[in-house]
Amino acid sequence: VVDIRKLYAEADVFTYDPGFTSTASCESKITFIDGDAGILLHRGYPIDQLAEKSSFLEVCYLLLHGELPNAAEAEEFEKTITYHTMLHEQFDRFFQGFRRDAHPMAIMVGAVGALSAFYHDSTNVEDPEQRMISSHRLIAKMPTIAARAFKYFRGQPFVHPRNDLSYAENFLRMCFSVPAEDWVPNPVLTRAMDRIFILHADHEQNASTSTVRLAGSSGANPFACIAAGIACLWGPSHGGANEEALNMLKEIGTVDRIPEYVQGVKDRRYRLMGFGHRVYKNYDPRATVMQKTCHEVLAEVGHSDDPLLKVAMELEKIALSDPYFIERKLYPNVDFYSGITLRALGFPAEMFTVLFAVARTVGWIAQWKEMIEDPLQKIGRPRQIYTGAPKRDYTAISKR
Ligand code: ACO
Repeated sequence: VVDIRKLYAEADVFTYDPGFTSTASCESKITFIDGDAGILLHRGYPIDQLAEKSSFLEVCYLLLHGELPNAAEAEEFEKTITYHTMLHEQFDRFFQGFRRDAHPMAIMVGAVGALSAFYHDSTNVEDPEQRMISSHRLIAKMPTIAARAFKYFRGQPFVHPRNDLSYAENFLRMCFSVPAEDWVPNPVLTRAMDRIFILHADHEQNASTSTVRLAGSSGANPFACIAAGIACLWGPSHGGANEEALNMLKEIGTVDRIPEYVQGVKDRRYRLMGFGHRVYKNYDPRATVMQKTCHEVLAEVGHSDDPLLKVAMELEKIALSDPYFIERKLYPNVDFYSGITLRALGFPAEMFTVLFAVARTVGWIAQWKEMIEDPLQKIGRPRQIYTGAPKRDYTAISKR
C-alpha cells in the first residue's frame, strides 16, 4: 500500500480536482455505491431489501454498529432512542426567537447547532461513550426539532413526542396532530414515511457528509458538525432538489408543456431537477423504490390521478428516450418522486429538505464516528492553486 500523503509531501506536489470528482477523502466501511450498475449497499445490504424488509431504526443500528441488530439489541436500541426524544424546555424559547415565517431549514441549522449549548460533555469527542450518546441524542431529537420547525412555520402549538409509537408514527403525529387530540396512524402512510427515511439514511461521501467529516476533522462537537451538514444539504444541487423538483413539475403543469420545457433544458436555460447524479450513471436504485412508494401513497390518499404524477411519469419517459439525456447518462434520482410523495403525505415543499435531514442524520453521525475512530484521520485541509495578484507593496489610501 502506498501512503500517497507521504509521497506527495516528499515530492511537494498535490492534485488539482475541483468538486473532488476523482479524489477519495477517506476509507469507509459504511456504504458502497456502484454508480454505473445502479447499486447501493449499506454495510453490504442492498437498499431495496432494506427498504422492503427493514425499519428505519434497524437501518440506523446497522449504519452505526456495522451489523443488523438481533431482537434484544433492536429492543434496547429503540428504548435508548425513545429515551432521548424530548427537548429541553428552554428550547421553546430558542424557537420563539425565529421570525414567524422562517424557513424550516433555517430553523434546523440553528436549532441543531444550539444542541451543543445543552450537552457540554459532547465536546469530549475522544470519549467513545460520549460519541455514542451524542449519536443517540441526534437520531432521537431530529424528528422532534423538525416537527417543531414545521409547527412553528404553521403557527400551531408544538406536540410532544410519544414514545409508544414507532419512529415514523411519532414523527407524523408530532407534525399533523394537535395537542390532546387522538391521532390514529395510517399504516400505509407511516410505512411510506419510514421507507423514505431508509432511502435517505446514508449515501457515502456526498457534499453534506463530506462537510460533516471536514467540520469534525478539527475536533468540533458533533452537534455543530451536523448543523454544518444541514446547511450544506439545503442547497438546490443537493437536498434542496426535492423541493425544486416539485416546483418544476408545478411550473410545467400539464403533459403538453413538457416538450417546450425539455427544449429549455437542452438550451441550458435550466436543469431538469431530480435528474442526474455525480455518481449514478444509471437508474438511482432509491428512485425505483421511491416511485413505487409514491404510487402507494397517492392511492392511499385518493390522489392517483394527481396531474403532477402524470407530468412526472411522462417527463421521465421522454427524458429516458431522448439522446440529450441518454448521452449524458441522466436518470431520475431519489428526489424526482419524493416531492410528489411528501406532498401527498401532507408536507409543504419547505419541509422536504428537513425530512431529508432527519433521515440523513444517522449517516452523517455514523460517518463522523468512523472518521474519529480512524487512526489515519487528520484535520481536513485541501490545498489550492493561487491565481491572484503577485506580491506587491501596500499603497496609501491617498494614492489609490
Ligand atoms: N438537467 C439537465 N442537464 C444536466 C442535469 C440536469 N439535471 N444534470 C447534469 N446535466 C448535464 C450538464 O449540463 C452537463 O452537460 P454538458 O456535459 O453538455 O456540459 C452534464 O450533464 C454533466 O453535468 P455536471 O454538472 O458536470 O454533473 P455533476 O456530476 O457535476 O452534477 C448534479 C450532478 C449536481 C446532481 C446534477 O446532475 C444536477 O444539477 N441535477 C439536478 C439537481 C438534482 O436533482 N440534485 C439532486 C442530486 S441527488 C441528491 O442530492 C439526493
